[in-house]
Amino acid sequence: MTGARPTAPSLALRHPPHGLRELPWGEPLEGWHASAAPLVELNVGPSRHLVRFVAVADEVYAVKQLPRRLAVHEDAVLVRLGATVLPCVRPGGYVLLPGDDALLVTRYLTDSWQLRAALARVGAEHRHALLGLMLDLLVEAHGIGLLWGDCSLANTLLRRDGRQLRAYLVDVETSELQDRLTDGQREQDVGIAVENTAGALLDLAAAAGRGRDTEALLREAVALGDRYDRRWQGRTALAKHRSAGQDGAIRTGGMTARATQALVALGPDLARLTPGGR
Ligand SMILES: Nc1ncnc2c1ncn2[C@@H]1O[C@H](COP(=O)(O)OP(=O)(O)OP(=O)(O)O)[C@@H](O)[C@H]1O
Ligand SMILES: [Mg+2]
Repeated sequence: MTGARPTAPSLALRHPPHGLRELPWGEPLEGWHASAAPLVELNVGPSRHLVRFVAVADEVYAVKQLPRRLAVHEDAVLVRLGATVLPCVRPGGYVLLPGDDALLVTRYLTDSWQLRAALARVGAEHRHALLGLMLDLLVEAHGIGLLWGDCSLANTLLRRDGRQLRAYLVDVETSELQDRLTDGQREQDVGIAVENTAGALLDLAAAAGRGRDTEALLREAVALGDRYDRRWQGRTALAKHRSAGQDGAIRTGGMTARATQALVALGPDLARLTPGGR
């Protein structure tokens, strides 16, 4: 499927509902028009690749254009993650385009907010707790052997699940799923998270006219390393008492408590996180 270059779009969609195959796959994604595709305009913020959203059969799908090698890889990782309990977006397959690109299709995570967009909307008093949810997700990912590769505020989605606010993973373009990770691999992944977070927090502050907070924000980003270590140690201690499930899943009581507290703490501010980042 991935070897020969197609001369027309080649669809590898998983259980497509009526209407998905019929999208204008032969047209450049950037030129898709509402007259030919049921587009949904969601302002999710800047991303490296072009991502557009379509509503088909009562469901919204994200369509992302990227090099075919990355699209096929990302789809395969998402399929494997679907067999684990890690909270992440669900794969819908891909479409190979003539040339080197492909369109990756994922099911839109309904009622979710990008962590970056959420931090732009709520007060600084919520930042510590919301960043903690991203760290819990990173710990869970490492626990099942996933080297995320690009943990960031933009690649973390938040969603209310009952009485908890949980973080979900989106964007596994550069991720690798292995049996288990070495300490060095985890350390490297945490370093990427710290660096990405530092950059994003500075960007958000500059956009909000709070450029003076630089040092405090950098300290907060760097502190993520220690916060991650404490979480990982908690998980390791728990694992000694309880054997992990087949997928390596262990969610500590601390994670659950933090997810519940984060929702309670947001209180009325929850309403400011409009679904879909609109
Ligand atoms: N299935 C989905 N459900 C909800 N939101 C999504 C989904 N897919 C993409 N998004 C939104 O679109 C944004 C961009 O998607 P994605 O991160 O996959 O693109 P990217 O170009 O690879 O990003 P990056 O700039 O991090 O490389 C995400 O941060 C998220 O807000
Ligand atoms: Mg991304």
